[in-house]
Amino acid sequence: MIVNDNIDTCRHFPAPPWPSGRLPIAYLLAAIALIGCQRSPELAEFSGSYPDRASPNGTTREFQVVAAASKVPLFDGRPFEVWAYNEQVPGPAFRVRLGETIRVTFTNKLPQPTTIHWHGVRVPNAMDGVPGVTQPPIQPGETFVYEFTPKDAGTFWFHPHLRSSEQVERGLFGALIVEDEEPPPYSRDELWVIDDWLLTREGTLYEEFNTRHDLAHDGRWGNLITVNGQRTPRLMVRPGERVRLRLLNVANGRVFAPDLSALDAKVIAVDGLYAARPLSPAGFELAPGNRLDLDIRVPSDADGQRFTIFDRFTRQVIPLAEITVSGEPVTTPQFESPARAHVPAWKRPEEATPLRATFRLNARSGGPFGIQWTINDEVMDHATHALPHHRQHLPIGEFSRLRFTNESYRLHPMHIHGMFFKVLARNGVAVDEPHFRDTALIHSKESVDIGTVPTDVGKWMLHCHILEHAESGMMTVVEVN
Ligand code: C2O
Ligand code: CU
Repeated sequence: MIVNDNIDTCRHFPAPPWPSGRLPIAYLLAAIALIGCQRSPELAEFSGSYPDRASPNGTTREFQVVAAASKVPLFDGRPFEVWAYNEQVPGPAFRVRLGETIRVTFTNKLPQPTTIHWHGVRVPNAMDGVPGVTQPPIQPGETFVYEFTPKDAGTFWFHPHLRSSEQVERGLFGALIVEDEEPPPYSRDELWVIDDWLLTREGTLYEEFNTRHDLAHDGRWGNLITVNGQRTPRLMVRPGERVRLRLLNVANGRVFAPDLSALDAKVIAVDGLYAARPLSPAGFELAPGNRLDLDIRVPSDADGQRFTIFDRFTRQVIPLAEITVSGEPVTTPQFESPARAHVPAWKRPEEATPLRATFRLNARSGGPFGIQWTINDEVMDHATHALPHHRQHLPIGEFSRLRFTNESYRLHPMHIHGMFFKVLARNGVAVDEPHFRDTALIHSKESVDIGTVPTDVGKWMLHCHILEHAESGMMTVVEVN
């Protein structure tokens, strides 16, 4: 049950009974507040989308995470030098139920400082893992405890937020799967962590990061694509099964466009949250940071068949993974698709919902890497953690319309921490995506309008999820209060 009646502009209102001595003043203040307390149509429509606070059920799930240099059998099984969480690449996939509290005791055994950011999870600001903004960097040898209760069920992930173009590329990423209080009875629930690696001729990781080439393009694109650390792995299923398949793109820069047309597959969730209805996967782009949850029905007469899922983002068609059907058919679980969330339409035009802010995306020469990526002509300085001068303010519990204007020819998957948003328009033309996101791909020279209702106070990062772009400056802060 989703309720968020307490998200509205009127909630800061003192509740009666008024303190007796101050009665007349309290009434006067209340009356003044009431005049300015008209819920906007956007806010009224938003009501019921997702809760503004967590509902802890009293259970705490404890996890230990250690980041360290390791050797893991990857790709062809030969030991490969990585940096890993708990000696695994991909890192652990933690599964919890909605309502449970997560306590992660994290120890940094890397040769450099780090933090953990919980991508897409609406956490208290102090748990967001942004060095110099929400916490000091976690130095080598230090331990930090992350603790929070997720407010939303869905597919989320975690990764470092310090030197992330190097740390994520070396293998530091894991998944956080928050199951519904009563998960729909899928035959199986699988996760595909999609990544690419830039390898040398000798098959080791290419250890120059943030190169001029990466910066001048769409970040670091690898020459080997893996799913769950393997090249074109095979998922074995039985005829008749109904599979929930969670796709997660952890690549530094590469965008995937998974071709699922060979399958009976529907998108049920985007960036964690359920969509308003099951959607065709055609046309979905999986940019760095994005997740897609699929509802796949394996035909009951498909014994012996193989379905290959290809990436078609570039002209080179690349096989990602395979689904192989074999065995005795099972009865297909019948249940209504979980994709029936309340998603506001937010259809009023720009005149009625004026922009609160515009973020212009561009590049210039300079900085430690020779090229800097800018937001409104400013860069985030990661060496000093100095926050950009012009911090955008977003009022909590109110609707804001924001615009990304890509003045460059490169791709920018723009991500905002601590909130979900909905794409409202592309190049001035209204679009109706029946789902929220936390990362939206802004194409070359494109302008994209989004709408959001922030639910949590704090300093939240807004940045490009092409990690080289973020590292060279394309990051800013929005302040919600
Ligand atoms: Cu996936 Cu600022 O993060
Ligand atoms: Cu970018």
